[in-house]
Amino acid sequence: MNHLVAPSVLAADFLHLGRDMEMLEKSATDWIHFDVMDGRFVPNISFGFPVLQAVKRVTTKPLDVHLMIEQPEQYLESFKNAGADRLTIHAEAVRHLDRTLNEIRRMGMAPGIALNPATPWESVRHVLPLIDTLLIMTVNPGFGGQSFITYTLDKIRTLRAWMDSKGLDVHIQVDGGIDLKTKALVLEAGADVLVSGSAVFSSKDPMAYIAALKEPG
Ligand code: DX5
Ligand code: ZN
Repeated sequence: MNHLVAPSVLAADFLHLGRDMEMLEKSATDWIHFDVMDGRFVPNISFGFPVLQAVKRVTTKPLDVHLMIEQPEQYLESFKNAGADRLTIHAEAVRHLDRTLNEIRRMGMAPGIALNPATPWESVRHVLPLIDTLLIMTVNPGFGGQSFITYTLDKIRTLRAWMDSKGLDVHIQVDGGIDLKTKALVLEAGADVLVSGSAVFSSKDPMAYIAALKEPG
C-alpha cells in the first residue's frame, strides 16, 4: 500500500503562509495537516477558523484538521464551513464519541479519531468501522518539534495486525517526531499516513523533503 504524506501547517512560516502553501500545493503533499489547539485539552494555543479559511482559498489538497480541543462537538459545523475535508477529534476530549463521529460523517467530512500516546487503541475498537483515520499520537500533543516516543511502535503494530485480521480499511496516521529516520520505523510497524511538521519546514528544501517522505519504504 502506498503511504500518504501530510505536512503540518503548525511548522510553517506564518509571515509567509501564502508562499509555504504554494510550495505544498506543488509538492507531493497528499493532505495538509492543520493542528487546532485550545489551551485546555493541550497546554498550547495555535490557530483556528480564519487561518483555515485562508489556507482553503489557496489549495486544492484535502485539509486534514486535527482538533486538540475540549468539546469538539460544539464546533463541527464551523470547521466544515471553514473548509475542513477531514476532521479528527481526540477520543479523550469527547463524551459521546459515536454520536460525534456520525455527525462529522453526516456533514460530509471524513471522520477520524486521535489517541494520546497513553490511550490504548483497544478503547476505540468498536467504532473503527465508523472512521476513515485513526491518528496515533507519537508525541504528547500540544507542540511541534518533540522527540518520537518509541513505545508507540508496538501500538501501531498490534493495531495494524488487528485491522488486517478484521479486513478494516482505516488509515493509521502517525503524528509527532516524524522525519526520514522515524518514517522507516512507523511504516514498518504498519502506519500509512505520515504527518510531519518541523522536519519538513526546517529542512533546506521542504519540497524535496516531502518527496523523500513520500518515497516507498
Ligand atoms: C502536535 C501536532 C503535530 C505537530 C507535529 O501536537 O499534532 O501535528 O505539528 O510536529 P512535528 O512533526 O514537529 O513533531
Ligand atoms: Zn497533528
